[in-house]
Amino acid sequence: MSTLPSKLEAVVSDIEQQFLITDDFIIKATDYFVESMEKGLSSPKQTREHMPMIPTFVTSIPNGKEKGLFLAADLGGTNFRVCSIDLKGDHTFELKQSKYKIPNDIMKAQEAEELFSYLAKKVKAFLDEHHQDSSSHENPLKLGFTFSFPVDQTALNRGTLIRWTKGFSIDDAVGKDVVELLQANLVILGVNVDVVALANDTVGTLLSRAYANNPDETNANTIIGCIFGTGTNGTYYEALDNIPKLDKDQVPKGVKGMVINTEWGSFDNTLKVLPNTKYDEIVDKQTANPGYHLFEKRISGMFIGEILRVALYDLFEQGFIFQDLYKQRGGSLPHRITEPWLLDAEILSYIEIDDSTDLKMLGLVLQNNLRLPTTSQERHVIQRLTRAISRRAAYLSAIPLAAITKKVKDQYKDDDKDFEIGCDGSVVEFYPNFQETILQAIAAIDPLKGTNKKIHLKIAKDGSGVGAALCASTV
Ligand code: BGC
Repeated sequence: MSTLPSKLEAVVSDIEQQFLITDDFIIKATDYFVESMEKGLSSPKQTREHMPMIPTFVTSIPNGKEKGLFLAADLGGTNFRVCSIDLKGDHTFELKQSKYKIPNDIMKAQEAEELFSYLAKKVKAFLDEHHQDSSSHENPLKLGFTFSFPVDQTALNRGTLIRWTKGFSIDDAVGKDVVELLQANLVILGVNVDVVALANDTVGTLLSRAYANNPDETNANTIIGCIFGTGTNGTYYEALDNIPKLDKDQVPKGVKGMVINTEWGSFDNTLKVLPNTKYDEIVDKQTANPGYHLFEKRISGMFIGEILRVALYDLFEQGFIFQDLYKQRGGSLPHRITEPWLLDAEILSYIEIDDSTDLKMLGLVLQNNLRLPTTSQERHVIQRLTRAISRRAAYLSAIPLAAITKKVKDQYKDDDKDFEIGCDGSVVEFYPNFQETILQAIAAIDPLKGTNKKIHLKIAKDGSGVGAALCASTV
C-alpha cells in the first residue's frame, strides 16, 4: 500500500469514516425498517415519508408446475425487453427474447404516447420475428407487463404511475394507467395480445425464483425477490391481516396473503437514520427526483459511480488530485470526471479488485475507459474511495433483507426449511464481493436468531420476464 502525504491521508481517511457503517448501526436500522414497513402497510396515502408498500394483487407463489406460452414486456431501465416464455411445468422454461435500447429523447418525452407507442411497436416487431402465427390465434396471447417504477396498483392489470425513477422523466405519464397506455397502443397497431398482468421486476424475480426452486432439493423456501442493479427494490409475501390499508373486498374470498412491492428505494426519505455525506447531497440534487428514493441513491448501480465521481471532483477542487493533469491539458479534465452520470458502476468493479503492483491494471482501466491518466498516489485514493462507497452500499443492502426476514419468520415457524432470497441485477450479480458482504452484514444482524435456519442468496436469471409470464398464467 502506498503512503499518501499526511494532509491527503487525513482527507481520505475522513471520507472513509463518513462512509463507514457499523454493525450496531445496521441492527438499529433493521428495526427502523420493520417499523417503516408497518407504517407503509397501514397508510393508504402515498407520501414522501412512507415506504410505498404496494399491494400487487399477486396472491400466491408458484410451485413450479405452471404451464403454457406467455409473453412478457419488461421496461425497467435503459432497455426494453420483449420475451416469450414457454413454462414447462417442471421448474424449467424456454425463453426467446429481444432487447431494445430506449432512446434518450423518449425517456424524457413530452407525451406518454411517445414512450408507449414505441413499446407497442417493439412488441409487434418481436412477434413478427418469433411468433408470426400469433395474429391468427383465436385467443390473444397473454402478456405480463413488467414495469419497474413505483405504481399504485388497484388490480392485477391496473396501476397508475406514482413517479418515475432511474433517469426517466415524462410528466404526462404520472397518474396514468400504464396497462391502458400499452394496451391502447397495441390495439392501434392491430397486435393480437392482451395485457393481463402488471408486475414490478422484483415481483417477477420472486415468482421466477420460486418457480425454479424445488424445495425438496434446496431445502429452502423463497421468501424475497429483489433487485440490486440500476435501481434497487424488493418484494415478499405478506399475510392479509398485516395489510390494514388493503380493501379486503378487492380480494377474492379464501385468499390468505398478497405479494407486497416494498419500493424500498424510498426507505427513510426523511433521513432519520441513513448516513448522509455531502457527496450524497450533491448526487441527490442532480437527479430528476430530489428528496425521493434516498436509500436507492446510496446503493444502486446508477448512483455509486456518480458518488465516486463527485468525491473525486471534490478532491480535485481542493487541490489534492489531478493537478498536473489539469495543467497539462491546459485547464481541463476528461469529461467523464467533470460530467454527471458518466462513471459507470462497472468501472468501479474493476477498480475494486485490482491488486497489481502499483495498481497498474486499474491505471489501464481508467486510461481506457475514462481517458484518465493517473499517478500511483491518485490510483490508491480512487481505490480507497471506491471500496468505501461499495462497502457502504452492500452493508445498507443487508438492512431490508434482514428486516423482511425478521418480519415474516413467524409465517414459517412450523417449517424447518432455510430461507432463500431471489436476486437479480448487475450489482448483486457482478460486483466483486457484493454478495459476500451482504451475507456478512446479515450475519451481524442475525434476523433468524433463535432458529437453526440459514439465509441463502440465489441469482434469479431472467426474473422479470419469467415472473411476468407467471403473473399472466394466473389469469
Ligand atoms: C424502482 C422499482 C424497481 C427498482 C429495480 C427502482 O428505481 O422504483 O420499481 O423495482 O428500481 O429495478
